[in-house]
Amino acid sequence: MDLTKAATVDEMLDSLLEPEDDLLLQVRQASHEAGLPIIEVSAQQGRFLQLLVEMSGAKHVLEIGTLGGYSTVCLARGAGTDGSVVTLEFDPFHAEIAGKNLAAVGLDDRVRILVGPALRTLPLLADRLKHRVQEPFDFIFIDADKENNKAYLEWAIDLTRPGATIVIDNVIRDGRVLTVENKLEFIEYLGHCPFVRSSAVQTVGSKGWDGFILARRI
Ligand code: SAH
Ligand code: DHB
Ligand code: MG
Repeated sequence: MDLTKAATVDEMLDSLLEPEDDLLLQVRQASHEAGLPIIEVSAQQGRFLQLLVEMSGAKHVLEIGTLGGYSTVCLARGAGTDGSVVTLEFDPFHAEIAGKNLAAVGLDDRVRILVGPALRTLPLLADRLKHRVQEPFDFIFIDADKENNKAYLEWAIDLTRPGATIVIDNVIRDGRVLTVENKLEFIEYLGHCPFVRSSAVQTVGSKGWDGFILARRI
């Protein structure tokens, strides 16, 4: 497969549909200028995420893996002015850039960045849920360190209401199914988990031959 061509097709689609407005472009550029890794969602994927949040009517959104906040902006836009996003980021520098980016696009009042390894901050969210200071999440976007995907899924099941949407990025990367130590552990787990119904969708575009899982908490 010619992936250069897939990227060119994405460029054409971007110019036709314009999923990336000036504010999103500013977030992408500021993140690159700060030297963050260039692995954020593409413009089309970002718009796709926004639409998924909108269509599911999600108001309480959780993201694992903030980077510079590009996908965070898409999720927050999907959740609307009466929605909110909690986003978890391990790297304090990434979180600092994301904080600046979110403030620059006027979304800092609707987004909370929790800094630290997600496996440390997720239990805090569970506590908040238990004490009813946090609503169960309607939508979770998992896009951090892929080794912990199974653990993140287990937390996602605890932190969401039935009917919630779970999206896991990069389950396919560079044309291969994401495995941890050559095991398909977390995908197998999803296949057998009675609390989620899952699909895996391969994609091509500016990020190469990629793919995500779309799942519904049941
Ligand atoms: N969702 C972003 C991209 C995220 S890249 C977007 O599309 O715009 C993955 C991010 O996860 C990086 O910023 C990385 O620092 C962060 N990360 C890695 N390990 C983590 C962990 N254990 N807990 C929380 N975040 C982590
Ligand atoms: C990588 C991480 C991502 O979240 C992504 O969308 C693409 C690549 C990476 O770590 O290489
Ligand atoms: Mg990703």
